[in-house]
Amino acid sequence: MSSSPTDPRFVIEGATEEQQAAVDELVKQFLLTDSQLEAITKEFRRRMEEGLVADGKVLKMIPSYVTKRPKGTETGSYYAIDLGGTNLRLIRATLDGKGGVKTEHQKFTLTEEAKARTLFDFIAQCVETFLDDRNLRPTGQQPPISMGFTFSYPVQQTSINSGILVQWTKGLNVPGCVGRDVVRLLQDALLRLGLRVKISALVNDTVGTLLSSAYANPSSQMGIIFGTGTNAAYYEDVSNVAKWKGPNPASGEMVLNMEWGAFDSDDFAFLPFTPHDIKLDRKSINPRKQAYEKMISGMYLGEIARNIILWLADQRLLFDGRSSDILNAMWSIDTSYLSAAIIDESPTLSEIQQVIEKTMGVPRSTLVDRRILRAIAHLVGERAARLSSIGVVATLLKRPELLSKPIHIGIDGSMYEHFPNFECILAKTVSRFIPEHQFKNISFSLAKDGSGVGAAIIAMLMATED
Ligand code: GLC
Repeated sequence: MSSSPTDPRFVIEGATEEQQAAVDELVKQFLLTDSQLEAITKEFRRRMEEGLVADGKVLKMIPSYVTKRPKGTETGSYYAIDLGGTNLRLIRATLDGKGGVKTEHQKFTLTEEAKARTLFDFIAQCVETFLDDRNLRPTGQQPPISMGFTFSYPVQQTSINSGILVQWTKGLNVPGCVGRDVVRLLQDALLRLGLRVKISALVNDTVGTLLSSAYANPSSQMGIIFGTGTNAAYYEDVSNVAKWKGPNPASGEMVLNMEWGAFDSDDFAFLPFTPHDIKLDRKSINPRKQAYEKMISGMYLGEIARNIILWLADQRLLFDGRSSDILNAMWSIDTSYLSAAIIDESPTLSEIQQVIEKTMGVPRSTLVDRRILRAIAHLVGERAARLSSIGVVATLLKRPELLSKPIHIGIDGSMYEHFPNFECILAKTVSRFIPEHQFKNISFSLAKDGSGVGAAIIAMLMATED
């Protein structure tokens, strides 16, 4: 998919010369050529290797202590606590022994107080509610109930059920947690409520996604999240992990949590930063961090589009120079508005008109304004999907021996599930960098809610003898 500033998709019917020139500039910045992607992929590979050798590198390549694979024949009910961006889910996963899982879950929204201070006490209270509602609370005579804990933030694991929070990412920023063992924090909060619950596995959401995908499909090698944030985990041969000083697992392999959202955060030298990205980064809660994530994931795409919209409005190239209180507020443009803009194919772009006039609070828009908005949504979304291929390709080419037989990738997250064309552009871009005879062995599928189910599966593996 090579594009130039004259790409017909970005010729705006009825636009003035100045408007078209501004769109052409955006096209130049946002549409990446295959050779640009190839160069970035090469750097990504180098960073992976570096992260396998030592801690503290930009790609953390964190050993997850998960060394087993489910067979798909296991049965029984297992539990997990899944902390995502703003929600917490308590899960009971019942494995049917044929690769299928029935889940029952209860969802809680993090309160402002939990986000500001009392996160772990809040989680413990939710666990209590979940157990009490189902009459599952163990009494003094019963053994504690085991639960996997999916924690979707970078943690330097110190065992399968302990790990130090390295930093907050995405929207959460609870004080007093960085540098501490998050399982200890939760276990103490559970103890304060007198709950006999043992956290038997601490799991990144990507590791959970991989394991839930592996229960259904034994050829799974990689789990990816393209959602509010982005990251991936994959099975690596332990002999390739020079920094691993622990015992060699019987299986010879371990799942690594790459924390790939951080790629290029140290020197901002390889990703295609535009002034709109730089502005977003500067005003985010984590400047100079998660550079790759900020170009790809759902939390940020709306904000990039907002920066572009204001850049155009300030030059009187959009909305006749008008803005609105809503448009002027950071994070006011949700990524779902970009999805709505992309799917609007009506002659007057009436969906986009609704978004501009009702949601963005700009009283009037011309058809040209709406066409420009649609172009912005396409550009930001397409760049995200094309850049997403980099991590996938770099990881697959790291272990080319796996590509000679069927290999499966489980993916979860709102971008992959809902953003128009994301899945298709991603697969098409990956196909351009992997030889055809190998590409045909790769399958991708949605591992819906895999993060929590995977943590329950890991809790099950921990309870099972080799
Ligand atoms: C962020 C977190 C990472 C998580 C990802 C997807 O990048 O740092 O741990 O896996 O978001 O939720």
